[in-house]
Amino acid sequence: MVLSLSSHNVMQYLQDAGLCNSEDGASDQSELPGSSKNNFNLVVTLADNRQLLIKQERNINNYDAAPHELFQEWLFHQLLQQFPVLGNILAMPTAVNYAPLVVHFDEENSILVRNYLSEYVELATFYHNNEIFPQEIACAIGTTLARLHRATYNRREYQDFMATAPQGEFRYGFYNPAQGVGSIEPEIFGSVPTDALKFYVLYQQYESLESAIADLAYDWNPCCLTHNDLKLNNILVDFRREKLDNCLVRLIDWEACSWGDPAYDLGTLLASYLGIWLKSLVVDPTIELEESLHLALTPLEILQPSMIALVRAYVNAFPMILEYRRDFILRVIQFAGLALIHQIQDTITCWKYFNNADICMLQVAKSLLTMPEQAILTIFGISESEILNSVSKIHKFRKPVKEQQLVPIYYEKTRLRGC
Ligand SMILES: Nc1ncnc2c1ncn2[C@@H]1O[C@H](COP(=O)(O)OP(=O)(O)O)[C@@H](O)[C@H]1O
Ligand SMILES: [Mg+2]
Repeated sequence: MVLSLSSHNVMQYLQDAGLCNSEDGASDQSELPGSSKNNFNLVVTLADNRQLLIKQERNINNYDAAPHELFQEWLFHQLLQQFPVLGNILAMPTAVNYAPLVVHFDEENSILVRNYLSEYVELATFYHNNEIFPQEIACAIGTTLARLHRATYNRREYQDFMATAPQGEFRYGFYNPAQGVGSIEPEIFGSVPTDALKFYVLYQQYESLESAIADLAYDWNPCCLTHNDLKLNNILVDFRREKLDNCLVRLIDWEACSWGDPAYDLGTLLASYLGIWLKSLVVDPTIELEESLHLALTPLEILQPSMIALVRAYVNAFPMILEYRRDFILRVIQFAGLALIHQIQDTITCWKYFNNADICMLQVAKSLLTMPEQAILTIFGISESEILNSVSKIHKFRKPVKEQQLVPIYYEKTRLRGC
């Protein structure tokens, strides 16, 4: 019998799971508003002030769907237990006070319990409330991510571990997240607002966009442990230190983690920064796109130092990635474009919303995916060689050469039937 968790039975559940006793009693319970489309999330404060975050997958009663995302987070937690060296990397730069976050997993009921770090601030909220973008934070994220990718790069023991499947199931391969918009069925007319149909029509018109995504998916090369959902909502920052240059960041929400492509994580992060800019655009049918992009309430120039710091810190901590993948930065830019498309899709499916600002986002995504070389200069305000200047002074790299591409003979087209 699958249990559906609610604020009424959560305390009993925690007691039965041995996570608290009857004297603990909850002093407070609050549902995390709109944090995720898939999960029911509840924060419980116990009498001793301990806080727990309880997550349950919402599609729990849908037996056709495979509720395995929390299993991935649990698997990741197990990986850290088995290989503590990885746990230390994720608690960097200061390895003090590192305690495992996940404290309980109930596979049958798809429930995961984590320690809730009330002293940490979600990075998306911090940026939103303060409108400041200290480079030190981006630097700490880039360094942490690079260390994780570097430590797991081509390491068979970690790859085998991540291939573990839920009990009674098999895993035939790792999921490739480099996916564009899937095939469009007639049901779409009932499930998305009429305005949003424009997104699908435009997407289908851009053949170069579809081919760029197809190439990206084709070249997807899983080689290290990746988070696969690295947006600013999934990063916590500890601001208790006086100096930001030693700030502690925690990457959370490892539900999509897998064996994947490192450029995907860095690209998703960049897209999160670009999203701040693009969501602040002033859009009006009478204003040209170029003008809109310059009228943003949060101008791109304010975000550029953080984006440059992020990439530099990453490459500084994992310089060999430029040897392994000559086109690494270009792929990061392309994955950022793809992540923007995923952001638009999420807005449409979760919030039933699509407006002119999203059309601007689609145009920017298209530029990143189809013309990554030119896009670098626009996005960062400096060229690739200037970004990598400090790194290449230490490590001598050859200039990236574009690999010869096989011409794909066929792309599966998504078409609105009847259009
Ligand atoms: N350990 C934690 N400490 C503090 N805040 C957290 C913690 N875990 C999650 N949160 C907050 O809860 C939100 C939702 O958690 P998350 O694991 O990302 O769930 P979801 O899968 O629903 O996105 C996060 O965006 C963050 O703001
Ligand atoms: Mg999340």
